[in-house]
Amino acid sequence: MNTELKSKIIKEFAKNFTEEPMLIFSPGRINVIGEHTDYNDGFVFPAAVDKGIIAAISKSSHTESVTIASDLNEKFEFSVEGVKPIIGGNWRNYILGVVGEIQKKGLQVGNFNLVFGGDIPDGSGMSSSAALENSVVFGLNELFKLGLTKEEMIFISQKAEHNYVGVNCGIMDQYASMFGIKDHALLLDCRTTVATPFLIDFNDFELLLINTNVKHSLADSAYNNRRAVCENVASLLNVKALRDVTEEDLLTIKDQISEEDYQKVLFVVQENNRAQAASEAMVANDIEKLGELVFGSHNGLQHQYKVSCDELDFLVDLAKDCDDVIGSRMMGGGFGGCTINIIKKGKATAFVEKVAPLYKEKFNKECSPYSVNISEGTHKIV
Ligand code: GLA
Repeated sequence: MNTELKSKIIKEFAKNFTEEPMLIFSPGRINVIGEHTDYNDGFVFPAAVDKGIIAAISKSSHTESVTIASDLNEKFEFSVEGVKPIIGGNWRNYILGVVGEIQKKGLQVGNFNLVFGGDIPDGSGMSSSAALENSVVFGLNELFKLGLTKEEMIFISQKAEHNYVGVNCGIMDQYASMFGIKDHALLLDCRTTVATPFLIDFNDFELLLINTNVKHSLADSAYNNRRAVCENVASLLNVKALRDVTEEDLLTIKDQISEEDYQKVLFVVQENNRAQAASEAMVANDIEKLGELVFGSHNGLQHQYKVSCDELDFLVDLAKDCDDVIGSRMMGGGFGGCTINIIKKGKATAFVEKVAPLYKEKFNKECSPYSVNISEGTHKIV
């Protein structure tokens, strides 16, 4: 955990409030493979990282709650009575959403003081939003003794995102952030929300993230649109979700949908198979196979599901040309954020030194490499 960030949050809390706060760390996540499968009841393969949100939270004796977004230097005052989403409210809606969704369950929260800050770059596709939601629901659960299980908390976080932020996300980000296990990736069945942990040990290889530092604005609407396509086709096939469908099933309705939509749902079915195959490759210690699946995932995200962008494709193409990288793909919702790469140990610096100037020349922008450690999920910092 970032000790500098921790002291900054503690100081800022003390500057603004007199109460003694509870401190919470809630991580962001990576995803090895299984993209856009979570809202299709499918499989994903995420892991929590050592970057995320640190929140300091206490009860308040006032009639208002005060939240300070430390990185943005913004303060927000509201009452927990009658919360509703704010148009253009940005980060405020994550806080309001969590409060509102807790209340929807018939539980009472009082007013509170909150200071939060993070070290996941916004738009990096590492889910700072789920980290924030989880830190708030976790903190409120402790403070007001709500008796929520972690499982209930992640669904509150997800609903906050649906109903207050307007993104109909799946459960991967909230799950990984809450339930992360140090050094393990979690093969999560998003239908049952049961996960199998796999030790991340790639022999001679390691993970490297490269941030494109772009987030194209159509991301949220395109996300909801993809989800709607998947749900329409599932209902056409009379199944609960695309998780229940094979490639052969899709052929039976191919002439009832557009070629574009057919490719999208075909991607989901194939990506779901890739995520499961990836876990088999990890058990068999076949890292080359895992790499192939990761390249295959990007190919589908780019050409079939169409959620990539030039910047991501450029980085993945350079990875394909480099013998030290055996797998590379865009990670997260798409339209920007990071690529995740499986690279020979000790070769990351050389690869980044090669890629960075080419990226700069092409897009007139820097890309940023991150190495992350796989960490445990949302917890109290003592
Ligand atoms: C975003 C969403 C997740 C998931 C990914 C794509 O991160 O929040 O639920 O759908 O995109 O895999």
